[in-house]
Amino acid sequence: MANIQLKAVRKSYGAVEVIKGVDLEIKKGEFMVFVGPSGCGKSTMLRLISGLEQITSGDLLFDDELVNNVVPAKRGIAMVFQSYALYPHMTVFDNMAFGMKLDKTSKQEMKDRVQKAAELLQIDHLLDRLPKQLSGGQRQRVAIGRAIVRDPRVFLFDEPLSNLDAALRVQTRLEIAKLHHDMTDVTMIYVTHDQVEAMTLADRICVLRDGLIEQVGTPSELYENPASLFVAGFIGSPQMNFLKGAIAEKHNCTTLGIRAEHIEIADAADAEWTGKVVHAEDLGSDNYLFVDIGAGDPLIVRRPGKLETPLGTELNLRPIAGHIHRFDANEKPIR
Ligand SMILES: Nc1ncnc2c1ncn2[C@@H]1O[C@H](COP(=O)(O)OP(=O)(O)OP(=O)(O)O)[C@@H](O)[C@H]1O
Ligand SMILES: [Mg+2]
Repeated sequence: MANIQLKAVRKSYGAVEVIKGVDLEIKKGEFMVFVGPSGCGKSTMLRLISGLEQITSGDLLFDDELVNNVVPAKRGIAMVFQSYALYPHMTVFDNMAFGMKLDKTSKQEMKDRVQKAAELLQIDHLLDRLPKQLSGGQRQRVAIGRAIVRDPRVFLFDEPLSNLDAALRVQTRLEIAKLHHDMTDVTMIYVTHDQVEAMTLADRICVLRDGLIEQVGTPSELYENPASLFVAGFIGSPQMNFLKGAIAEKHNCTTLGIRAEHIEIADAADAEWTGKVVHAEDLGSDNYLFVDIGAGDPLIVRRPGKLETPLGTELNLRPIAGHIHRFDANEKPIR
């Protein structure tokens, strides 16, 4: 277990600075998720915390102890990557025990730890198999198991589920949530591109943008009170609708943001926007109507249940009171 602090952390590769001064505290036992566009520095942050990369300037502390110059093996960290490099000629058991063999752990203790981790991940019936005899999800669980048996203080995950198909992602996501629930002492930092993973797994989400933190908060804080237009557009799926020009001016802002679930169909008398349905996506439980109101991209409107609105239907719409996000010319919220 560890409390992790980053103080004014910077990282350059040659003349190019990729982490530009990050201050962040991750609490003991917390599940922190890093999100942000490709190339913003998420993997670099994990590599700095793990010690695989050296910090250029600033301080990194584990439980108030400076670890800038502590080698990776001494940091008590386990890392799980997108591609789970298992040894193909070794059984699941041997793959999981491999690191402990290097550490000269006793045979009995090795067996106990592998068994415990395997039970936690529900792969204890697979210990004698070779990786090629496993599904992708099972292989990824072996990779996670191999990390667990080393009894880490900190768990780092870099997009661990992105190679799995949709059903396996859901299942393995639940396993990871359970792991966090069972290993209450272990601090977890998790990088993902997946909105649902970020929203459901995180105690807090850290949104990175071009080497800097844009906002840190609980999933609902970021969803309900984004600190910038960037966060508003990044968190949530489908993306928040943004309206500019006269529509925004009417609400005394430069950009008006409204989420798909916060637009309702109104009577003509109290409609704020009117337009035609130009596209629709039926997800079964919900559907999304794309309504061209003559102001840039079509507005995305969520409707519960089956699709009942044919293309071309004229709709009167209005935002649900209290759910409008207003942003000024500097892309900061007006509250
Ligand atoms: N060894 C390196 N040498 C030079 N530049 C690097 C090196 N590693 C990463 N970078 C640069 O640092 C920036 C951040 O990279 P990083 O891998 O942390 O991004 P990321 O947020 O993980 O992106 P993705 O979502 O695509 O995985 C990128 O512009 C990348 O090109
Ligand atoms: Mg990355």
